[in-house]
Amino acid sequence: MRMYDLITKKKLGEELSPREIAFMVEGYTKGDIPDYQMSAMCMAICFRGMTHRETADLTQYMAQSGAQVDLSPLGELTVDKHSTGGVGDKTTLVAEPMAAACGLTVAKMSGRGLGFTGGTIDKLESIPGFRTDLSQQEFFDVVKEAGIAVVGQSADLAPADKKMYALRDVTATVDSIPLIASSIMSKKLAAGAKVIELDVKCGSGAFMQDREQAELLAKTMVEIGSRNGRNTSAWITNMDQPLGLAIGNALEVNEAIETLQGGGPEDLKELCVCLCAGALSTAKNMPLDVAREKTLQVLADGSALQKFRRMVAAQGGDLEWVDHPEKRQQAAVCLEAKAPASGWIAHMDTAAVGIASMLTGAGRETKESTIDPLAGILLCKKTGAYAEAGETIAKVYAADETKAQAGVEKLLAAITWSDNQPEHIPLILGHITAEN
Ligand code: URA
Repeated sequence: MRMYDLITKKKLGEELSPREIAFMVEGYTKGDIPDYQMSAMCMAICFRGMTHRETADLTQYMAQSGAQVDLSPLGELTVDKHSTGGVGDKTTLVAEPMAAACGLTVAKMSGRGLGFTGGTIDKLESIPGFRTDLSQQEFFDVVKEAGIAVVGQSADLAPADKKMYALRDVTATVDSIPLIASSIMSKKLAAGAKVIELDVKCGSGAFMQDREQAELLAKTMVEIGSRNGRNTSAWITNMDQPLGLAIGNALEVNEAIETLQGGGPEDLKELCVCLCAGALSTAKNMPLDVAREKTLQVLADGSALQKFRRMVAAQGGDLEWVDHPEKRQQAAVCLEAKAPASGWIAHMDTAAVGIASMLTGAGRETKESTIDPLAGILLCKKTGAYAEAGETIAKVYAADETKAQAGVEKLLAAITWSDNQPEHIPLILGHITAEN
């Protein structure tokens, strides 16, 4: 078999066989197929696409290119969640303890933030003492004891994806649905959970700006999961404004704890309820409304909060920090961002809000940057809210005045004001299951 012939086949829009896809993925991972041939193939896929069968095969071989976690000793109800990323997205910290409290087993590997905000691991590490670098044995022990563990993603998960993603990044071949879907799902398949719940975001702060594209991505990922024996479903959600009010690592953990305690912002609560109910419904083949009731119950009776506390304790985190907000350290500087004139917030350029948060120190400007866990933004107003001229619309936290001021300026520039009240933006835009 020759890579040249496979590139020609895809260039002509023909379907690659499972053997051909296996040859390509294995050859590229080992270094037998050079970057220039793989980049030609990725470009051909960008233009010609892939069938669902091809995409599912590509994903399977990418997942098999490295370590695959066997979660079977933890039972049949292992669940994982993936969000395509957004600003203020702390749903793992809330929806996963809810899932554990509903009887699902959460053995989750998460990443650090690559873009302007921290990832789940960065957020959890703002809890003093919290360890995310557990050995496989420790990871399993915590799951058995607490029903939930969240650890850093192991480096040898789907190496084919790591190599292909780096190549796509420099060859303008990132924006292809089969390539994005296979990249995301290869890591999910390798991470081993039986149930996969996806949150595909669209809007100004999302990877997918456009709703139709988000829907296509969600359908493709659900199809990949089903074809690979994983119960997969997806929510399409709006990321035209940050989720919740907090953006920044410790600030987001505070907000997640408030939500688990029964407070927190409505949008965050609603999305977490949807994600948990979706996973529960898929895992236990339960009607969605029944799963939703169960989810609301574990939130109201405090059992989701207890799962979070047990995870924190089992992973070495400080429960005093969790239970006593007054003991949590604050950033050295807090500046207020004020409305420049009276009016309604008509739009937030959410990616720019993410950059504002990064400028405070809450995200990574380069891969080598270190994160300031205390930095970030606490919004007081979001899209659709009215503010008087000079009213505080956000508090911006940083280690020094310069960083806080940079955050304030970027945040204010990201907001569009109107004299008229804007239309309400719905958060939940769709739900994709293997059946619909
Ligand atoms: N996230 C991924 O993991 N892969 C992609 O291709 C795009 C976003």
